[in-house]
Amino acid sequence: MRRQRLRTIGCGLALLAAVGGAPSPACAQDAQYLGPRGVPAHAFPSPGRPVADIVSPTRSQEAKRDTNDESGQIVRLMGIKRGMTVGDIGAGSGYHALRLARVVGRSGTVIAQDVKKEYLAQLTEHIGRQNIQNVRLALGEPHDPRLPPGSLDAAILVHMYHEVAHPYAFLHNLAPALKTGARVGIVDLDKPISGHGTPPDLLRCELSAVGYHEAAFHRLAGDAGYLAIFEAPPAVRRKRPGEIIPCRAKAN
Ligand SMILES: C[S@@+](CC[C@H](N)C(=O)[O-])C[C@H]1O[C@@H](n2cnc3c(N)ncnc32)[C@H](O)[C@@H]1O
Repeated sequence: MRRQRLRTIGCGLALLAAVGGAPSPACAQDAQYLGPRGVPAHAFPSPGRPVADIVSPTRSQEAKRDTNDESGQIVRLMGIKRGMTVGDIGAGSGYHALRLARVVGRSGTVIAQDVKKEYLAQLTEHIGRQNIQNVRLALGEPHDPRLPPGSLDAAILVHMYHEVAHPYAFLHNLAPALKTGARVGIVDLDKPISGHGTPPDLLRCELSAVGYHEAAFHRLAGDAGYLAIFEAPPAVRRKRPGEIIPCRAKAN
């Protein structure tokens, strides 16, 4: 047991260290969640709006989130089920990844993805201590989640969209990771970016600019904000970087 835990921790840290190079053979399982590089950020329009700083690996206190059943609401509204592979993009300290791991069960997998090595290292220790076997880690880049093509049945992006520095590149590079028909659930506050939220109309505009289709919109109970659910565009409907019209430009 102790050896297994150490291997899990070591493997996760080796994966983090290996980004940009070949992961260690002992971490071959994790390595499948480092996809090929996507299109570079400079090929896309700039967001033309503020972007919030990354300030914390979590949104708020876990007890409060549990009282609101934040995870249960997302699971039900997204139709997440046992056996699925679900990406928690911007997982931070893993509030949702750890709860999704129970939902997808031993036959499923949660990919806890983030751009901060230190957050993923803390999460690696946590899953090692708890001997959780079905959470894998993935270190992305601000413009590119770096997930393998066709790897996800669903993705959730919870209280992180307002921090995405290159939203058009990020969304374009995320789309190939989703299986056909897979949905992307974005949870955020209906507040300005400066208040660590994303106004829903801005979100719709940016996703539609890349070719995403809005499937549903829900106000979540408690203070969790909203859940907007989108279908990622298949390759034929994905806008090429040069075709993307940034939302501020449209409004002007
Ligand atoms: C406020 S925390 C939320 C963490 C978690 N989703 C939650 O609900 O508790 C935002 C997270 O998004 C991550 N993040 C910011 N920009 C990102 C990007 N472009 N790709 C992936 N993660 C990103 C941050 O590092 C941070 O861990």
